[in-house]
Amino acid sequence: MVIRVAFYSWKGHTEKIAVTLAKLLDAELIRIEPVRDCGMAGKAIKALFTMKSPIRPTKTDLTGVDTLVIASPVWAGKVPAYVNTYLDSVTGGSGKPFHVIVGMGGRGDQSAIAVVKKALEQKGMKFVSSASTIEKDVDSGSFSRTVEMFAAGISGR
Ligand SMILES: Cc1cc2nc3c(=O)[nH]c(=O)nc-3n(C[C@H](O)[C@H](O)[C@H](O)COP(=O)(O)O)c2cc1C
Repeated sequence: MVIRVAFYSWKGHTEKIAVTLAKLLDAELIRIEPVRDCGMAGKAIKALFTMKSPIRPTKTDLTGVDTLVIASPVWAGKVPAYVNTYLDSVTGGSGKPFHVIVGMGGRGDQSAIAVVKKALEQKGMKFVSSASTIEKDVDSGSFSRTVEMFAAGISGR
């Protein structure tokens, strides 16, 4: 099974989650990179209104990929505009399963997951599972249990 983990991370927490997950799943790891970074207010407002911001070219075609995993921070109870751009760019996903994992300070995970779910379901993809982590658990290392359980649900092992 070919699994692709696509992540965006500003401060490194989601990167830690995505790297851990990709290792557990032996998955391909894709970083979503902004063309340019915007200020703090722009980050929050664009996320809140589910807007898009340009990203650098990356793998968005799912031909040959069986399962997609999106890993994102929660911004304003939604996901960063860069993640919205990536989701909008995904092709070849119709009928394929996807999973979502988000990292947050403490709240807004379900509404953030809902944004990803809606965007990929509009492309005919099938939502399977989601998980949430809290930043302090990523810092302490105790997030690994959550990621392991999430990975087991994806691989079926
Ligand atoms: C613009 C912005 C908005 C945020 N909004 C939320 C939020 O609504 N809820 C929350 O729990 N954390 C929020 N956070 C905190 C991030 O989700 C948290 O710091 C996360 O671990 C960051 O991941 P990263 O290190 O991969 O960038 C926000 C952070 C930023 C920069």
